[in-house]
Amino acid sequence: MTKFLIAGNWKMNLGPTDAAALAGELSKKWPSGSFSNDVVVSPTAISVPAVVDALKGTDIAVSVQNVHTEDSGAFTGEISTPMVKDAGCKYVIIGHSERREYFGETDELVASKAKKVIADGLRAIVCVGEKLEERKDGSQQKVVKKQLDGVLSAIDSSDSKNFVIAYEPVWAIGTGETASPEQAQEMHNYIRSVVADRWDETASKNVRILYGGSMKPANAEELLSQDDVDGGLIGGASLKADSFSELIEIAESLSK
Ligand code: PGA
Repeated sequence: MTKFLIAGNWKMNLGPTDAAALAGELSKKWPSGSFSNDVVVSPTAISVPAVVDALKGTDIAVSVQNVHTEDSGAFTGEISTPMVKDAGCKYVIIGHSERREYFGETDELVASKAKKVIADGLRAIVCVGEKLEERKDGSQQKVVKKQLDGVLSAIDSSDSKNFVIAYEPVWAIGTGETASPEQAQEMHNYIRSVVADRWDETASKNVRILYGGSMKPANAEELLSQDDVDGGLIGGASLKADSFSELIEIAESLSK
């Protein structure tokens, strides 16, 4: 039985005051013991302490959106895994398409970040996904396989429970356009087969594969009902307590 993982990616929104207000609303609605799946929110780093504080007494975990591969040193503007753990986070999002596109993150860098995050006892949510032109020319599986290859070599199958993959077709992120449930299932099933080939069948079942790209209450049930969709990485719809709560409720109603 895999638990769904419902993860909110707040991106560069909500400073400490607003982030604490949203986390406070979630905290009221979802006290400890009120859901059976895994729920995570990922504020911008500067809002993490306020959110961790506001979520005390809940089962909602906190994530960051990026880390460096070193523990400390002269890396202006970066944060490290010991800092992330010290702040009370359990997850790190790695290799989001916005980081690949605007901050030059390569597959190699994404793989070394995933390795570091898992070695330090955090859970990695590694994002993969093709661009529109790659979907149009039919190369989406090739693209995603290449993005996964380095990561699967960098970490060990024994860490499969701490490894989460988020399939986020770039053309569906923040566009209101969503992959159809069939497109999502086809890619998720393919991703699971790549993991099974590189690792093994059991490890491939332990890895949770999230869908991301305009997931919202109106389309979540269909997407989460697909066999290989184990949750969602949600941007826009995670910024309001009502819509994020609806997503948590939908996952609860479908619990695998
Ligand atoms: P979106 O973002 O739900 O706003 O499309 C998803 C993401 O980028 O993680």
